[in-house]
Amino acid sequence: MDLGLRGLKAVVTGGSKGIGRAIVEALALEGCAVEFCARNSDGVARVAAQFAARGLSVRGTALDVRDASAVTRWLNQIAPFDIFIPNVSALADDWATTLTTDVTSTVEVTERAAVILAQSAHAAITFIGSKTASYAAPHSPPYGAMKAAMAHYMKSLSVKCLPRIRVNVVSPGDIVFTDGYWDRISREDPALFKAAVERNPMGRLGSPDEIARVVAFISSPAAQFVAGANWYVDGGSVRHVQF
Ligand SMILES: NC(=O)c1ccc[n+]([C@@H]2O[C@H](COP(=O)([O-])OP(=O)(O)OC[C@H]3O[C@@H](n4cnc5c(N)ncnc54)[C@H](OP(=O)(O)O)[C@@H]3O)[C@@H](O)[C@H]2O)c1
Repeated sequence: MDLGLRGLKAVVTGGSKGIGRAIVEALALEGCAVEFCARNSDGVARVAAQFAARGLSVRGTALDVRDASAVTRWLNQIAPFDIFIPNVSALADDWATTLTTDVTSTVEVTERAAVILAQSAHAAITFIGSKTASYAAPHSPPYGAMKAAMAHYMKSLSVKCLPRIRVNVVSPGDIVFTDGYWDRISREDPALFKAAVERNPMGRLGSPDEIARVVAFISSPAAQFVAGANWYVDGGSVRHVQF
């Protein structure tokens, strides 16, 4: 199937590591020109150079999504674009940090991007949520609560933006990659890691590219009738029914 991504331009926040990096790669391999940001300038330059060496059209910019004026400058500079992937999370367990990064900054950057996206005939926003939004998370209440808030917000944004922009959520399950959250847990708390593997019916955690391929599809013209959806990519680990 041709996803229809060739020639489109995509923007990914937090694209230098983990799931964001895999999304940059998946979209670039499908023929998108991709722009990403992250805070660490060395990391941004290294990742951009790795993609360039493979002949992929990827450019990185070092910025913090909490810096509203830097974000506005960046989006104006790289406009026009067709696809926007708000992927940054503070991955924190305190309310102030989580509220600032996961909610306030994400809403601001997404609404700025939406103004530019409205000019595209293939406009899509795909927010990276989490399965944690849908069940109790006693070890990290702010993270789950803010992901739930953002899933709710994205549904409202979908209604507001249609028919110009399709807004969807992809909610990953437990995803492991070198130096990511679950890789650290596997070294520092093997019992917790083992419990995570056991609650995954596939007997393993997911990988970033397994999320990225779904994000590429749902963001693509091939998914042009998918809007306001929240797709769980969790290996079947969430057992409750989602209506
Ligand atoms: N990993 C999982 O198991 C899992 C499961 C469910 C959902 N998710 C969601 O998937 C998304 C990505 O998670 P991940 O595990 O891939 O994270 P990660 O490995 O920590 O990568 C985060 C990326 O965002 C950048 N970043 C962080 N804060 C930033 C900021 N304020 N401004 C700009 N860039 C920033 C980081 O680079 P710098 O540090 O250089 O800024 C990095 O490129 C998050 O929304 C997370 O909630 C992850």
